[in-house]
Amino acid sequence: MAATAAGSVGQATPRLIFGRFRFWLFMVGVVVILTGLLFGYDQGVISGALGFIAKDLHLGTTLQEVVTSWVTLGALVGALLAGGLADRLGRQKAMVIGGVLFAVGALGESLTPGTWILVLSRFVVGFGVGVASVAGPLYAAEMAPSSTRGRYVSSYQLAVTIGILLADISDALLSSSGRWRVMLGFSIVPGVLLVLVALAMPDTPRWYMRVGRRADAKACLAKTIGGPDVDGRLDTIQSELSASKDVGWKDVFDPELRRALWVGIGLAVFQQVTGINAVIYYSDKIFKLAGFTTPHGQTVATIVSVGVVNVLATLIAIAFIDKFGRKPLLYAGLIGMTVALVAIAGAFAILDRHPTTGGGPSITGIVTLVAMVVYIASFALSLGPVVWTLISEIFPNRIRGKAMAVATAFNWLAAFIVSASFLSIMNAIGEPATFLLFAVLCVIAFFWVRVKVPETKGKSLEQIQAAWAEHDKARRAPRKPVYASD
Ligand code: BGC
Repeated sequence: MAATAAGSVGQATPRLIFGRFRFWLFMVGVVVILTGLLFGYDQGVISGALGFIAKDLHLGTTLQEVVTSWVTLGALVGALLAGGLADRLGRQKAMVIGGVLFAVGALGESLTPGTWILVLSRFVVGFGVGVASVAGPLYAAEMAPSSTRGRYVSSYQLAVTIGILLADISDALLSSSGRWRVMLGFSIVPGVLLVLVALAMPDTPRWYMRVGRRADAKACLAKTIGGPDVDGRLDTIQSELSASKDVGWKDVFDPELRRALWVGIGLAVFQQVTGINAVIYYSDKIFKLAGFTTPHGQTVATIVSVGVVNVLATLIAIAFIDKFGRKPLLYAGLIGMTVALVAIAGAFAILDRHPTTGGGPSITGIVTLVAMVVYIASFALSLGPVVWTLISEIFPNRIRGKAMAVATAFNWLAAFIVSASFLSIMNAIGEPATFLLFAVLCVIAFFWVRVKVPETKGKSLEQIQAAWAEHDKARRAPRKPVYASD
């Protein structure tokens, strides 16, 4: 915990989930949570608002798809540009820019006079989310002590889940009046808060060192992590940075770094192609099949079994990610997700043949519901928080911003492809086969994680780099894989 990293001993200070209370580290947590809230609220709110928007603005199916998906497109572009912004202007300024774009876009959405301003605003909102989705975890990883870094970065995912839950609740509360402008307008609040809090924060010691501002790096390290050997830690950062100075995009694809890049991209893509957003999106139908026949019953079931379970299981992951490590959580979660998806597929196969006739939940329906909860909880324990954590840890200091941007952009791209193709796949091969496909992808992800992903628990970012180099050496001297045991 922070006390170890800070080198402080034996004080009777309150201990929190993130370790001994230190104001500036606490604020790091706050700012990271705000970046996640933007992402989550935005991800969740549109499902409840879309029907009303379509009615008010007379949107056909294609325009509804545009309104929904342009956020993802904006996020993809935003994530790609965020790497350069975070490297050039700093992690903190990138978060401020993300917050401003998000708030401006949200204002545009809620005041829009017509469809095209709405679409443009959705793109701007997405752009802000994309920038924040790179800058937030990056900031957390570079600020936090290594012993609790997993917790700091995964609090980003916690905020994503809270944002989704808040969006579901606001959708539910406002749906009787159909006030979609208010639903969308609420997202101005986390955007403005992010700008205000991020403006008050320093940049990260690693970014200050990168741009030659050692005094600022020292002041920041002293007030956040503290401890005796601040200069020693800055020297370690410096020597890792000195390996190469000005880096450009081509360095991200350098053969030496390519393996880390593949791991980052693989994690980002597996997080999406194992079906999370399809399951969330499809939850109402699953609940309907489970016998929740009224829209109100379905909304409550979604809020509880998707929203609340997602938040609670993420909290558990945060508590254990630095204790058990990243890979054990991934293994446990992927097994749970596979079992749940197979159960959902089986239940759909049975329900297809013997549909529920109303009159309350059937046994098969209840099995589906339980499987759904198991799936969400397993994702929230594993791929949800662990992917963002690993992506922010595995790249060297000098290319971290850009490499994270590439991996995050792949995450958005995969999200876009899954959301755009999910319904067509389902129409073509049916629900059981679609969920089985997600289950197969979970199994592939499991073995891929086993072979390719390093364990980063408890290591400093510089030690993680050293481990990649060791791994390369070990690969050249055959049969001595560094990550074989975790
Ligand atoms: C994913 C989102 C997903 C959310 C669910 C995030 O980590 O990137 O696509 O909707 O988790 O909690």
